[in-house]
Amino acid sequence: MESKEMKMNPVTTNPHVDPALVERAREIIGRELEFFSERTPRSAEWLADAEQSMPGGVPMAWMRSLYRHAPVVAVRGRGAEFEDLDGNTYLDFNACDLAMPAGFAPEPIVRAIQNQALLGNHFLLPVPDSVEVCRLLRERFGLPQWQFTLSASGANADALRIARVATGRSTILIFDGKYHGHLDQTLWSRNEQGGMDADLSGLDPASAQGTDMIPYNDPQALRDRLARGDVAAVIMESALTNCGLVKPTPEFVEALNTEVRAAGAVFIVDETHVQFAVHGGGTSFFNIEPDILTGGKGIAGGVPIGVYGMTDRIAAVLWDHRDHDPGLEEVNDAHGLAVGGTLYGNALSLAAARAGLSEIFTPEAGQRVDELGKKLQHGLQEQVDRVGLPWKIDRLGGRIQWRLTPEEPSNGAESFASLVLAIADARKVFMINRGVWDSIATAGPSVSYAMDESGVERYIALAGEFLSELTRGVSGEGRE
Ligand SMILES: Cc1ncc(COP(=O)(O)O)c(C=O)c1O
Repeated sequence: MESKEMKMNPVTTNPHVDPALVERAREIIGRELEFFSERTPRSAEWLADAEQSMPGGVPMAWMRSLYRHAPVVAVRGRGAEFEDLDGNTYLDFNACDLAMPAGFAPEPIVRAIQNQALLGNHFLLPVPDSVEVCRLLRERFGLPQWQFTLSASGANADALRIARVATGRSTILIFDGKYHGHLDQTLWSRNEQGGMDADLSGLDPASAQGTDMIPYNDPQALRDRLARGDVAAVIMESALTNCGLVKPTPEFVEALNTEVRAAGAVFIVDETHVQFAVHGGGTSFFNIEPDILTGGKGIAGGVPIGVYGMTDRIAAVLWDHRDHDPGLEEVNDAHGLAVGGTLYGNALSLAAARAGLSEIFTPEAGQRVDELGKKLQHGLQEQVDRVGLPWKIDRLGGRIQWRLTPEEPSNGAESFASLVLAIADARKVFMINRGVWDSIATAGPSVSYAMDESGVERYIALAGEFLSELTRGVSGEGRE
């Protein structure tokens, strides 16, 4: 799989980044990659051996392309730090692309997993924790009824199918800069000629026909597209987080809240990346009112889980169209809705989710993460200002965004254009070699719930060193 970062500006058409900075970034990458190889010989040797049993020596080929340097082999983690096979430790600001915001081996989740493992991981039956996790999710996100999967992709797949059944339509409307997991229908992007390009290969080409894409933050485009009367679901991230960071404007939110349902479509908000950046997620932060809310990743501290919440109206559709035995009961369809999976709703992920939601992702902890995020944003901005660059560091709670423009982007295209691949790569490898892991430039840095002030200070100091290195000898003019 192509790294999500590959849509970032490969060289720069960004007028706020002097080409001399990009040249310097390339020099830094070359030098730092050599240093990285010197620091990680045992990981390299392990990967070479592992190539006998896994393509690229990795359990998921994407791990090889994700970082644009060889992966290190991870052996253990605790709190906000993890260690590789060579004994290097890393302070983690990526949280596994926001799948580990609780940090590594958090005590409440470890305890819950141990207890549940002794009782049995799964029964393909409801367990008492299911209803408690629903209560915690309802308290946090407001929606009354919940279902469980094993990933956010799984939650989005179920949500889209429910929307098709609820509306009797098939078109899915997505926004530029989106990512909703590995679903054929959401992995398309509109090109400049007006056609649809696959984001990745191997998709069913027919899936493009049931997909349409419009710009984020464009209420008129939304109205025009809904007016055609064929949209089953509008699916959005509460803030775009896979192309940098783009927040929804109040006008856009207003249009979504009022017009999607009015047009007979189902409104789905994917909270997977924002759910813990701010307490209550982007839906509560931006006052978004979805019919279905999806999430996953970090809820259970790395134990696979996906969740979706829905209004009573949507829950009734799911129940009326449930999979059933035609001999036993009368329900609407010859076949039930294609939702669910054998391991979904298992006792282990629910026990871990209960511990995560009730003991780690608390409102007080969310407040602390917000404060740390603020400190990180301000500290980084001071460093950027110190070296005379015109860039503005952005933030949503604990999720920070390096943005290489003074102005905020309003859609995916603007956001990708505000980033520069070489500069992100240089920063990434410079930091890794000095013990800070900020590995996906479109996803942070993010403050995890295991982070403390000293970690944030360390990131700021190191970012300052990087910026001094990047700008050394580049004239003031070149910096704006
Ligand atoms: C917004 C969003 N939704 C869904 C997903 C899919 O998550 P998973 O790969 O865990 O299924 C991602 C993954 O990055 C995401 O960013």
